[in-house]
Amino acid sequence: MAVGTPWFCANILFIAPEMREYPDALNIREETVMDDGLPTFETVFEDYTVPAGVKLESIPPVVIPVDAYTSETYARAENEKLWGKVWQIACRVEEIPNVGDYVTYEIVDESIIIVRTAPDQIQAFYNVCQHRGRRLMEGCGHAHQFVCKFHGWRWRINGQNVFVNDRKGWGDKMTPEEAKLQSVHCDTWGGWVWINMDPNCEPLLNYLDPAPDLLGPFQLDKMRYRWRQRLIFPCNWKTALEAFDESHHASTTHPQLNKYGVTPYWFCRTHGKHTWHGPAVSTNPGRPGATNSDTPAQSDGPDPRVAIWDSLNTIMVEVNSCTTDTIVNAAKRLIDELPAGTPTNVVLAHLSAAAERDDAARGVIWPKIPPEKMQASGHDWHLFPNSVILHGLTYALCYRARPNGSDPNSCIFETYVIERYPEGQEPKTEWEFVADPMDSRWPRVLQQDFDNMPEVQKGMKSRGFKGARPNPRQEVTVAHFHKTLASYMGLGAPQPFK
Ligand code: FES
Ligand SMILES: [Fe+2]
Repeated sequence: MAVGTPWFCANILFIAPEMREYPDALNIREETVMDDGLPTFETVFEDYTVPAGVKLESIPPVVIPVDAYTSETYARAENEKLWGKVWQIACRVEEIPNVGDYVTYEIVDESIIIVRTAPDQIQAFYNVCQHRGRRLMEGCGHAHQFVCKFHGWRWRINGQNVFVNDRKGWGDKMTPEEAKLQSVHCDTWGGWVWINMDPNCEPLLNYLDPAPDLLGPFQLDKMRYRWRQRLIFPCNWKTALEAFDESHHASTTHPQLNKYGVTPYWFCRTHGKHTWHGPAVSTNPGRPGATNSDTPAQSDGPDPRVAIWDSLNTIMVEVNSCTTDTIVNAAKRLIDELPAGTPTNVVLAHLSAAAERDDAARGVIWPKIPPEKMQASGHDWHLFPNSVILHGLTYALCYRARPNGSDPNSCIFETYVIERYPEGQEPKTEWEFVADPMDSRWPRVLQQDFDNMPEVQKGMKSRGFKGARPNPRQEVTVAHFHKTLASYMGLGAPQPFK
């Protein structure tokens, strides 16, 4: 019997000792034969009893039309109807700590400058010269003024024009109002800078509701980049993001993790435009879970002192996130600090307390969050339209996917990890472009997800594919995403089965 069911996908570790075990044959990536006398996949899942306290939300079966993934017309329409209307993450606040620091954020045909204009103020402008339209800035850096390289117009970092070449040529018509940079709505939450190009957009906190309330206690704004990587991927941005919008694929796509057990039900929650999915139980220190107060003691099976360390260490090696060095190091000591036979729940409580103490000793204070708020905070969030955030007490794994121009078959895909550090000890990081998805700098579990994404994109173009059929219980997140998307696009809503 397993120590529990440490389970994770793309960064999640869950230990659910009360969950029943599933046969090793769930390693179906290698073993697709189902006539070997073992239960069928369907039987395995249908036979499962949902743990107490977990309410499954389901939807009627739906089909998602493929145009959202494959149509150039749809992709062009997205530029106007979606990207021109939504709040989207442009960068982390930490990327522009000093007045004059700026980054440029590219979305489809737009480029936006995000600049710190005062110690407590960040502004955003369209990255375009008001003379003849030259793009002004590239990448990120520090500026006293923005200067156009074409004819030399200049602006203060607050967008006010200070030089027009041969202004007299326009007589009195080239007013400051004419020449200023065009501003974009900009706000911050969670340590991110968000922008919205819609002049009439709703306030950011309304848009994100209820995520700010539910995630607020985790103080994501206090976390700093640990690592950040991006690549251009040959699939639609939604195809990429949806690989992280559900963990229903985990037992198949990441079979090496089945040795820790399998979470048969990933249940979903919808919150406004946003969603999250999670397992029944999470007892990974620092990670919220749906229910984590009734984990029973377990006396049989492998030594939980070893198995918990092994699973956490595997997470660190294979995902490079969803835990921290502090937690893994504390887990390594379990074998020395606890007697043999210590029940799983006691081992976990000890680990959590030890890791919290170790962090406090180096100046990282864990936020105090009551269990009911931990549970309510959810798990693997999808903030509409294009960010996925898996949060913990001292860390979070995040994904962002966006179109690469208007090609529906290409996207910019980013993964980054943020973590709490002692003040002044934050690592210096930069965005790294790691073009090869099989480059060892991409954690192995992500490589496995990458392996699916372009193949899904290819498959969706087949005459033999009628549309995506998300699981009505475990992939509500995907269906809800397209429902919300359709409310912006005016088409593409999931359709009931005929
Ligand atoms: S296009 Fe920028 S100064 Fe002419
Ligand atoms: Fe995955």
